[in-house]
Amino acid sequence: MQNKKIAVLTSGLSRGSNFQALADFIINKPITIEFVLHTRKKAPIAERCNNLGIEAFYLKTKNNPDFEKNLIEKINNSNLSIVVLAGYMRKLSPEFINAINCPIVNIHPALLPKFGGKGMFGMNVHNAVFEAGETISGATVHYVNSEYDAGDIIAQQSIDIANCTSAEEISKKVLKVEHNLYAKTIVKLLTK
Ligand code: GRF
Repeated sequence: MQNKKIAVLTSGLSRGSNFQALADFIINKPITIEFVLHTRKKAPIAERCNNLGIEAFYLKTKNNPDFEKNLIEKINNSNLSIVVLAGYMRKLSPEFINAINCPIVNIHPALLPKFGGKGMFGMNVHNAVFEAGETISGATVHYVNSEYDAGDIIAQQSIDIANCTSAEEISKKVLKVEHNLYAKTIVKLLTK
C-alpha cells in the first residue's frame, strides 16, 4: 500500500487522547499523521505532537476571519487521504466541507443518532446518557457534514454501562471504546 497521510483537527484545550491512540496504532503501518491542527497555543496536544515529532499546526480562531481559508489551504496542499476530527468542537461551514479534497470523519462519544446534535459534546453527552438511565452506550465514527453529528455513520461500538454509578464512570468506559474504535476504523478506511 502506498503511504497515506492523515491530518488531525482539534480545537480549544484538546487533551489529544484519541490522537495518541491513533498515533500508537499506526506505528509500522504505511500511514503518517502529517500535521495536527490546534487552536490554543497551550493545548496539551501540542506537547504530545512534539514528543512524537509530528507537526503541531497552530491557527488562532479569535479575530481571524481567514481561519477556514488558511486551514483549507493547509489541508489541500498536504496530499491527505483523510481528515480526522478528534476533539474539534467548532462547526465546519458547508464551504469548508466542499472545498476539502478528501473525506472528513469524526468520533462521537455515544451511539448516534441518540445523544447527538448541538450542545452534545464532552460531559454533556455522558450526563444525558446517565440521566436517561441507559444501560448501553458507546462510540460512533461518522462522516462530517455541516450539521452536528449528522453525517453518515461508518462504525459503532457499544459497551455495557448498566453498573456505572456516575456520568464520569461512563465517560471513562466510553473513552476506551473510542480509542479502539477510531484508530481501527480509520485504518480500515485507508486500506480498503
Ligand atoms: C472525545 O471524547 C471525542 O469523542 C470527542 O471529543 C473528545 C476528544 O478527546 N469528539 P481527546 O482530545 O481525543 O482526548
